[in-house]
Amino acid sequence: MSRISYVNGRYLPHRQARVHIEDRGYQFADGVYEVIAIRHGRPIDYARHIDRLERSLDAIHLNWPVTPSVLAQVIRRVCHRNRVMDGIVYVQITRGQARRDHAFPARPVPSLVVTARSGRLPPAALLETGIDVITVPDLRWTRCDIKSIALLPNVLGKQAARDAGAFEAWQIDADGFITEGTSTNAWIIDASGRIRTRSLDRSILAGITRDVVFEVAAREGLAIAQEKFTLDEALSAREAFLTSTTSFVLPVVKIDGKPVGGGRPGPVSRRLAAAYAATIDAQMAGRAEAAT
Ligand code: PDD
Repeated sequence: MSRISYVNGRYLPHRQARVHIEDRGYQFADGVYEVIAIRHGRPIDYARHIDRLERSLDAIHLNWPVTPSVLAQVIRRVCHRNRVMDGIVYVQITRGQARRDHAFPARPVPSLVVTARSGRLPPAALLETGIDVITVPDLRWTRCDIKSIALLPNVLGKQAARDAGAFEAWQIDADGFITEGTSTNAWIIDASGRIRTRSLDRSILAGITRDVVFEVAAREGLAIAQEKFTLDEALSAREAFLTSTTSFVLPVVKIDGKPVGGGRPGPVSRRLAAAYAATIDAQMAGRAEAAT
């Protein structure tokens, strides 16, 4: 079966799927995106992703290229045509094709691209072993709350992690505090046992997984402090973990080559990972029942 992708109204073989060289996404990174996990052929936390996409569109003064109900239909079709039962769908909206000029075109026609691919989430082996992170300076702009396709600092950070044999790079701001990973949110259970993650300001993305973990933790009777932390605090933490759509809740066992919490996934991270996975299973089961 060949892969099929959606580009501006057409379902095309993936290899032939193209946008114009003067698409503003290509020239200016003038666009936004979402990555949504698929489980049992259906999107996880769909409404939250669409709400965030709308916030990103608003922030860059871009209109929806199609109505939300058409987008939902396109996403369903792309998943179905690629037979994605477990995997991800990628949605990108740019300010479309126009003669190169930094200012907006007079009548922008946004471009919409939707792709999907299979893959088991999260990588089960990593849940058991935990993962390593390195740290890098946060080189990004002051609107990291927008899920912009301008990802060069994130790309460089992730590659630095790969080169070091690590899974992720945690970015450190000018004051020495960790902001977030290049495609994940960062958490610790600090030396006094408090679960901490940075509060939502413009220095990080409001992760959907982060949001759900707050609800999961509340159900588990665990309090979370929205308080930023330094690298030293992370190194002396009892545990650390990261969250994202593709990683779920993944324990971090080494930072810059130094073991955290004995170098093994800790009890609180494991508990949150299990409770998060159960919440997703329940969400999917609930929808399956509702559909029948
Ligand atoms: N990344 N921080 C950044 C910078 C991200 O790009 C992401 C998501 C997250 C986690 O957000 P969420 O829980 O909503 O996935 C935090 C996606 C997965 C990506 O770019 O592939």
